Amino acid sequence: MTSPVSYSLEGRIGVIRIDNPPVNALSQAVRAGIEDAIATAQRDESGIVLLICEGRTFVAGADITEFGKPPMEPFLPDLLDTIEQSAKPVVAALHGTALGGGFELALASHYRCAVASAKVGLPEVKLGLLPGAGGTQRLPRITGVGPAIRMMTSGAPISASDALAAGIVDEIVDGELEAGAVAWCEELLAADVEPRRTSERSVDALPENELTAIRAQVAKRARGQMAPMEIVEAAAAAATASFDEGMKLEREAFMRLMGGEQSAALRHLFFAEREAAKISDIPRDTEKRGIQTVGIVGGGTMGGGIAMSFANAGFPVTLIEVNDEGLERGLGIIDKNYGITVSKGKLSEEAAAERRRRIVGSTDFADLAGVDLVIEAVFENLELKQDIFRRLDETCKPGAILATNTSYQDVDAIASVTERPADVIGLHFFSPANIMKLLEVVRGDQTAADVLATCMALAKKIGKVPVMSRVCYGFIGNRMLQYYGREAQLCVIEGGTPESVDSTMEAFGMAMGPLAVFDLAGMDVGYKAREILPDDQKGDPRAYRVADVLVEAGRLGQKTGAGMYRYDPDTRRRESDPEVLTIIEREAEALDIERRTIDEKEIRDRILFALINEGLNILDEGIAQRPGDIDVVYVYGYGFPAHRGGPMHYADVVGLPVILETIQTFKEKLSSDNWTPSPLLERLAEQGISLSEWARSR
Ligand code: 3HC
Ligand code: NAI
Repeated sequence: MTSPVSYSLEGRIGVIRIDNPPVNALSQAVRAGIEDAIATAQRDESGIVLLICEGRTFVAGADITEFGKPPMEPFLPDLLDTIEQSAKPVVAALHGTALGGGFELALASHYRCAVASAKVGLPEVKLGLLPGAGGTQRLPRITGVGPAIRMMTSGAPISASDALAAGIVDEIVDGELEAGAVAWCEELLAADVEPRRTSERSVDALPENELTAIRAQVAKRARGQMAPMEIVEAAAAAATASFDEGMKLEREAFMRLMGGEQSAALRHLFFAEREAAKISDIPRDTEKRGIQTVGIVGGGTMGGGIAMSFANAGFPVTLIEVNDEGLERGLGIIDKNYGITVSKGKLSEEAAAERRRRIVGSTDFADLAGVDLVIEAVFENLELKQDIFRRLDETCKPGAILATNTSYQDVDAIASVTERPADVIGLHFFSPANIMKLLEVVRGDQTAADVLATCMALAKKIGKVPVMSRVCYGFIGNRMLQYYGREAQLCVIEGGTPESVDSTMEAFGMAMGPLAVFDLAGMDVGYKAREILPDDQKGDPRAYRVADVLVEAGRLGQKTGAGMYRYDPDTRRRESDPEVLTIIEREAEALDIERRTIDEKEIRDRILFALINEGLNILDEGIAQRPGDIDVVYVYGYGFPAHRGGPMHYADVVGLPVILETIQTFKEKLSSDNWTPSPLLERLAEQGISLSEWARSR
């Protein structure tokens, strides 16, 4: 097998070239190849060594597919030590994204140059790890401890110009990387530079009070994640311990985290997210339709956010409202939102204005005649949506993709009113649509393969994470949420409080407890949805009794200042409301419910196992392609803690037989109607197969 690393002597420059697509990850073969090349360079006529990569990026990290398997020599920290100890200066030439072990490779090199578009970063924290090849010891020695902690705990990459300002990069190369890097190497040769070893530098320790404040801040943001805390301690040690001691500490923490549940969960998510973008029966190279322009019908909460998502990614958008007043209101909210982003310093005024200019309002459907994609985001009403689709069918050019943002309506019933159901698809954004990363791409019975492929690719272009769902009530996310919400409400009326339920789920890691989420979304939404359903489709009446009473009392949630909680009008802080407990107790009595103590374990198991059970039904019916897709939906759309890997990964951690047994107990003790184990759960538990094994076997 040819090595992914080559070495050639070009004049006095020994060029080590890495070519390991797609992202030049540091696989064993790459590590071995670099080791050989460095050894050769020590013996030949070279005066300087240049490390450079082929393809779209400099090394983007260790090879994550090797994680969790027996380690193979040469180990990365040892290799980087060898590079740093090279008797000849080593220069790393960066382009694309130098991340994780790739950035550590650059830090172990003696000099670094980069093209202006390059980015560098240590994203290990996103995999539940800390940098494990000297990053925690070398970066603080260059930038100082505080900035290094910020960079490593956020995991976000920084631009080449910021890296230059921080002393991480020495030279920005204009034009083509290799030519620029070679020219810079010649300069360094002429100047007779010596190897400059970062490990030999020292760095000032942070004052104790500053470090204490950082620890507190990081702990608060980490919300139960271990890696950020380990990063702080390792980086602080860069100032107080020797390089070798610091490296030992880093290695121990790295191995500890690598062997733990959190990193396993986050690594699962890394691959699940990329897998979710693939549709099993549609080839990746399916020709996509060209999408240059976008139309949106309905400029309310969702339409406005969707318009911003596209405008932010450079697409011209035509936004249709029902009348001038609606248009003014919709565009006004968009203006306000851009204003907030500018005032927070996240966007310059000019950039915001440029994005805003891409959105043009209209009340005339004819303005949609030329667009490549239309997304309907009008009220959640099937007849209205069908009416809009009839008009789109008449108006839009052949080949245009017609999408609906419906949350619950039947995409096939919407498609059926058009003459081109193959061009119809669901694009279910989440609120706020300009911020939330999840996009459920809903595949109708007749949706064409190229329409689906186009939408999956387009999602990435606008910074979303796409997951395909088949058609059913609520698709993947909202369908499962009904069961999650039901148990949260039942736990309240059967003996809990909004506080006990929410704090339990927040301690589990949910971004927000379920009842606080109802308050945020507005409890009238569920109320109105129930109102139009016949009684037998509303579900367990005990599960919405308190919500109904609160809505009827005008307590719709945050927007009215009170719902399950009371909200401070200035800060929107939630506060307990004794009146709510009185209502809960009264309604429980009216329903003949004898309230009892419900402990945290019961709350957690009921809420999560109800969610998981429905996830299994969704898999069994083929609504979702894989368990990992559901995990991506819940982490990106519903605030499920990433370090738990999503509900289906969590199901494997708990064990399917345990979940089945618990559900059977709930069925006996709580409600036989509410607790029917999913047939897939029963099958897998009986066969002793985990969900991930099941997914791999298909
Ligand atoms: N190892 C193995 N495979 C990787 C990989 C890695 N580090 N990074 C990306 N890949 C794979 C992806 O799985 C994907 O495979 P697929 O095509 O079969 O699905 C393919 O490369 C392309 O990846 P993306 O779809 O993500 O491509 P993008 O162009 O959108 O993004 C990227 C490129 C920014 C480099 C992104 O892939 C990324 O962020 N990668 C992870 C970077 C990372 O976390 N590095 C740190 C690793 S941990 C580490 O280095 C430990 C060290 O401290 C010891
Ligand atoms: P909204 O009530 O804020 O906005 C709907 C807008 O559509 C209004 O501005 C209205 O004037 C406009 N409209 C109505 N009829 C129209 C017509 N004939 N032509 C042009 N515009 C028309 O509603 P929201 O919340 O934005 O929801 C829109 C859709 O998105 C619904 O289907 C909803 O289920 C879905 N959705 C909502 C989410 C949310 O959190 N609000 C999340 C995901 C999807």
